[in-house]
Amino acid sequence: MSWYELIQTAIAIRRELHKIPEPCWKEVATSAFIGKRLDELDISWRPCAKTGIVAHIAQGQRGDHLALRTDIDGLVLAETATVPWKSTVQGCMHGCGHDGHMATMLATAEWLKKHEAALPGPVSFLFQPAEEGGYGARAMIADGALEGVDRIFGWHNWPNIPFGKAVCPAGPIMAANASFKIVIKGSGGHASQPELCGDPVLAAAALTLGLQQIVSRRLPPQQAAVVSVTSIDARSAETVIPDQAVLAGSVRMETTGDLQLIGELIKSTSQSIAAGYNAAAEVDFSPRYPAVVNDATEAGRVQDILGEVLGNCWLHKETAVPLMASEDFSYYLEKVPGSFAIAGAGDGGLFSIPCHNSCYVFNDQLVEPMVRVMVRLTGVCTK
Ligand code: NI
Repeated sequence: MSWYELIQTAIAIRRELHKIPEPCWKEVATSAFIGKRLDELDISWRPCAKTGIVAHIAQGQRGDHLALRTDIDGLVLAETATVPWKSTVQGCMHGCGHDGHMATMLATAEWLKKHEAALPGPVSFLFQPAEEGGYGARAMIADGALEGVDRIFGWHNWPNIPFGKAVCPAGPIMAANASFKIVIKGSGGHASQPELCGDPVLAAAALTLGLQQIVSRRLPPQQAAVVSVTSIDARSAETVIPDQAVLAGSVRMETTGDLQLIGELIKSTSQSIAAGYNAAAEVDFSPRYPAVVNDATEAGRVQDILGEVLGNCWLHKETAVPLMASEDFSYYLEKVPGSFAIAGAGDGGLFSIPCHNSCYVFNDQLVEPMVRVMVRLTGVCTK
């Protein structure tokens, strides 16, 4: 098998996987596909965290035990792109490129298996389910995926960064997130008699604006944060002021520890604004994924290899880090040192359509350099 064949096979596999996306915790066919491929490659594996898989090679080697991770879940999203390998599952698509991550991992495993004797230490391949909000990484860790592992690496494709560029900072690379739900309880009545009501609709409108003051007025300007109200539900009839309104939204912070502070500010802001409208606010604040924080040494290692593979100008300086998106790779990095890289896929056209858009298309050109990066991280040559 030549390097060229390895990559062409990976791209073909990527397109096969694209046809059979499955959402969070339902990755049954995906897992079976991966298991079958690992069998063909004579790589030992076991199921992990229900629909996940952990595969191992070079287990007898003495050096550092490395883990490489890919996510395997698709999105609940109907694909509208007209690619020949379009999703065959109605209402579900690989809209985040996890098919590309999986194919890259399988090609990496194939190459390393062929060069197993050259590996200085064991390598584990983590095929992780439920990255999209399902805490798959936490479940993989609970099921022993990190046992004996010294260092871990992962990556994500990024359409908003040009192909051939990447980011992999020492420190935070992706934000911590949280969600919130605010129930504004007023008192309804006739639209013609507002003086007899506590209007939750007006309170919800004021609160939506008021919450924007948390980032602009309550946090230091240097602190990166996002508070987005994404839903307001106060359905009623034209002549009826309702009893309640429900707001929901999402929060992103550079550091996990500061999520609690935002939670408290959302609560106090909600209560004081609601009171001004003769209503009350009940706030449910739920921290979700922690921030993804790269180990400085391990990020440095990846930076060096990105330079070798993509060239000296690999760093996309225009991309501010951390990205305010979130990733459950953070849970691995809380346990062992490692690093997560974001690799550009954009071409200014089709491949620049963002992840989670129904027209998103994974850029297959990324497979080759990323297999190279992952293989080199293990200490094995790529040509
Ligand atoms: Ni993703």
